[in-house]
Amino acid sequence: MNISHSFPKTQLNSKLVNLIFISSSLGLIIYLFFSSFFLLPNTQLLFQTRTQFSYPTSINHIVFGISSNAKSWPERKEYVTMWWKPDQMRGCVFLDVPLNSSSNNNNNNTAVPSDDSLLPPVCISGDTSRFRYTWRGGPRSAIRVARVVSETVALNHSNVRWFVFGDDDTLFFVENLVKTLSKYDHELPYFIGTNSESFDQNKLLSFSMAFGGAGFAISYPLAKTLAKVLDSCLERYPHLYGGDERIWSCLAELGVGITREAGFHQMDLAGDPFGLLAAHPMAPSVTLHHTDYLDPIFPNMTNRDAIRHLYKAAELDPHRILQQTVCYDRWFQWTISISWGYAVEVFGKHVFLPDVLRVPTTFRPWRKGNVFSFDTREHDEDPCRRPVVFHMNTTVLDGDETISIYKAMTKGNCASNVGSPREIEMIKVHAQKMNLGMKQLLTPRRQCCDVLPSSRREKLEIGIRECHEDEVIR
Ligand SMILES: *[C@@H]1O[C@H](CO)[C@@H](O)[C@H](O)[C@H]1NC(C)=O
Ligand SMILES: *[C@@H]1O[C@H](CO)[C@@H](O)[C@H](O)[C@H]1NC(C)=O
Ligand SMILES: *[C@@H]1O[C@H](CO)[C@@H](O)[C@H](O)[C@H]1NC(C)=O
Repeated sequence: MNISHSFPKTQLNSKLVNLIFISSSLGLIIYLFFSSFFLLPNTQLLFQTRTQFSYPTSINHIVFGISSNAKSWPERKEYVTMWWKPDQMRGCVFLDVPLNSSSNNNNNNTAVPSDDSLLPPVCISGDTSRFRYTWRGGPRSAIRVARVVSETVALNHSNVRWFVFGDDDTLFFVENLVKTLSKYDHELPYFIGTNSESFDQNKLLSFSMAFGGAGFAISYPLAKTLAKVLDSCLERYPHLYGGDERIWSCLAELGVGITREAGFHQMDLAGDPFGLLAAHPMAPSVTLHHTDYLDPIFPNMTNRDAIRHLYKAAELDPHRILQQTVCYDRWFQWTISISWGYAVEVFGKHVFLPDVLRVPTTFRPWRKGNVFSFDTREHDEDPCRRPVVFHMNTTVLDGDETISIYKAMTKGNCASNVGSPREIEMIKVHAQKMNLGMKQLLTPRRQCCDVLPSSRREKLEIGIRECHEDEVIR
């Protein structure tokens, strides 16, 4: 149903009509039969669908509900300023109690820009003391967090297609959120998000739950329905741990399950998230999460500076950020994997494409012993036996083209012989600015790249382009 808008069905129908007309002497009778019982109602329906999609989903159709609290907000709001566009976005950040000036002053994080006009308005959550919470040792605030959904709906904004929820450390790539949601018919009951990277967390909670920190979206009609029944539903689930479990349970009671989108990231990991970002699935990156609990995504930077650095590339080409492209250098037998705007891995040998697409386990499980719920490849203990990594240094826009430069930020003490990728000093990647149309969103296809003839051993130049129809990446 959700893809109906991408095909001009009324046109197909009229072609069908023409065919029927000319192909048979019974044509008129058949036509009348079909038109009264089949074509006409169908055409009407399609006209409605077409009208609705004649205005593509934009940021103006989304209302955000961000869960925070007075304690963490002064410190987390720095993350929200990185993606919030005050003149274009609607919604609220929900706090438990009003911020008072003394708690602001006590905050020692003086580097935080404190221009609150750049931030979402603050809403204070309603009282939840009447609800029972029986998960021993768990946070009662889970009830308040679940009610962010109904309280965001109750803001009564007009012209809303989607409600989008996240934590105060959920980092959105807003253009990609909009693109991802634009695939779906917002008049149908959709619940869109993703589960955890931890198999064990999914097993414990549910594989079909949208984990809250990854961010999730609920279409307007479903959110309205959920808001109506939420309080009575919450009464039935005092024994659950989190807010997202409550939302998921109440949606399950409405008969709705998750639609998984691989661009949302819960990031239930510890250590260096490099692998996850270097081998991103073929979907626009929608969110990152938990970055305060992980190593900085760029070496020699603070967590927040590293995220800001990534957003600089994302601003120039949001659709391409973290998209993985792989090419092969025939001369040196290298395998080059680009995660656009973030990093390039160069293997000093040929590696089959399916193996390059697996996620190198540069990180540890969220909890000891947890198993990951995605494809992994080994991350060698010995840095000298790993592919050489180049992190994004700068990205510039040159007309419709981007040039991104990647450099080795940590130099290991590895012996390097002639022809080793360790001799590379920088990698320069040229790419067209990506503009995802409905075709690429519905049937994504990886792009191709070439090592350009202008390359030298120390300065690799690579061009990313669309693959030819029958081109193989090998
Ligand atoms: C939203 O609309 C409902 C019903 O019309 C009303 O009860 C509520 O007070 C309104 N909320 C706001 C914030 O305007
Ligand atoms: C980019 O490279 C230049 C020159 O090597 C260096 O001074 C600068 O710190 C680098 N910037 C980043 C963000 O790595
Ligand atoms: C980054 O930090 C590491 C140690 O933390 C250091 O060895 C390395 O030289 C630094 N790299 C740059 C480019 O400053």
